[in-house]
Amino acid sequence: MSAPNKSYDPVEVAALSAEEVQRMVDAALTAIAGAADLQELKAARLAHAGDRAPIAEANAEIGALPPAARADAGRRVGAAKSAIRGALTHRQQELEADRDHRALAEETVDVTLPWDRVPPGARHPVTTVGERLADIFVGMGYEIAEGPEAEAEWYNFDALNFPPDHPAREMQDTFFVAGPHGEPRSGVVLRTHTSPVQIRSMLTRPLPLYVVSPGKCYRTDTLDATHSPVFHQIEGLAVDEGLTMADLRGAIGAFVEAMFGEGLRTRLRPDFFPFTEPSADVSMECHVCRGASTRPGGDPCRVCRSQGWIEIAGAGMVNPRVLVACGIDPDRYSGFAFGLGIERSLMIRHGVTDIRDTVEGDVRFSRAFGMEA
Ligand code: DAH
Repeated sequence: MSAPNKSYDPVEVAALSAEEVQRMVDAALTAIAGAADLQELKAARLAHAGDRAPIAEANAEIGALPPAARADAGRRVGAAKSAIRGALTHRQQELEADRDHRALAEETVDVTLPWDRVPPGARHPVTTVGERLADIFVGMGYEIAEGPEAEAEWYNFDALNFPPDHPAREMQDTFFVAGPHGEPRSGVVLRTHTSPVQIRSMLTRPLPLYVVSPGKCYRTDTLDATHSPVFHQIEGLAVDEGLTMADLRGAIGAFVEAMFGEGLRTRLRPDFFPFTEPSADVSMECHVCRGASTRPGGDPCRVCRSQGWIEIAGAGMVNPRVLVACGIDPDRYSGFAFGLGIERSLMIRHGVTDIRDTVEGDVRFSRAFGMEA
């Protein structure tokens, strides 16, 4: 800004002459009208109404005029600035309306168009069958019990009356959890069955006791059509006064009818498990052929391989040594227990022939079972 100059002749100051100010206004209005979009208008605003615009510089000169000339020049510049501001506001509104209009036209959503449906997924049949199995026992008054998958060897083996040199403890069957300093054994294993939950239940719950425990188990098996290193079992345990093998048969029979069909018979044959005595292998009558495949002239049955019976569980009366290990008086109480494979039940019930289908996570497999709750 120049210093005030009393002898200044306004007529001689070109920047503030009416013609010059009008030229500035004309240039500004042309640029504003010519701005094709908001970006260009922004540039025009900077050039013609910004701090460095000719009109702003002219405005700064007013103070340098002799007082008599200031009012005139001030009015002229003020009118010019407001004309430019008015034009800017007007063009801004036009361009915004334009932009909104275009956006509405271009971004119209055709609600009648088909869209990519995102399928809701499906619960895994091992989960739903496991829940169904547990529900059957809950319906008979059993409670659900849980235990850890990384289990103390004592619960998984010792308390269940596995002798220290029992082959099932050896490397080919059991995943041993390494110790903190790299020792191959830490006293913890990935549980090889759900039976350790029997021990946990007997040690912590009041008698009488009726529990089922579904969950994951681990064995060092290679994945093939009939084996998986990770699988699921459901364990059952009842401890009460006066329980006998007849009670075990009753529980198994009720379960088989609820899971596989009314009127199916069950069969117990002698077997061996260290934690039950006597022990039994439980089979049910084939729910597909109901034994017809074993009779002369009957069609062969793929499900029971024409045996008429399908093995479904291990079971038995709780070994008194196990009761004693849990502080239960075997002269007063007796118990029965059973354990069955959830994948196996699923495969039997739905005719799945390859266990790998249950671990590969292909939703097409799960979806076939529907969204059963
Ligand atoms: N824990 C056994 C297994 O994994 C299955 C089993 C057999 C469980 C007999 C039981 C039982 O409760 O009584 O092979």
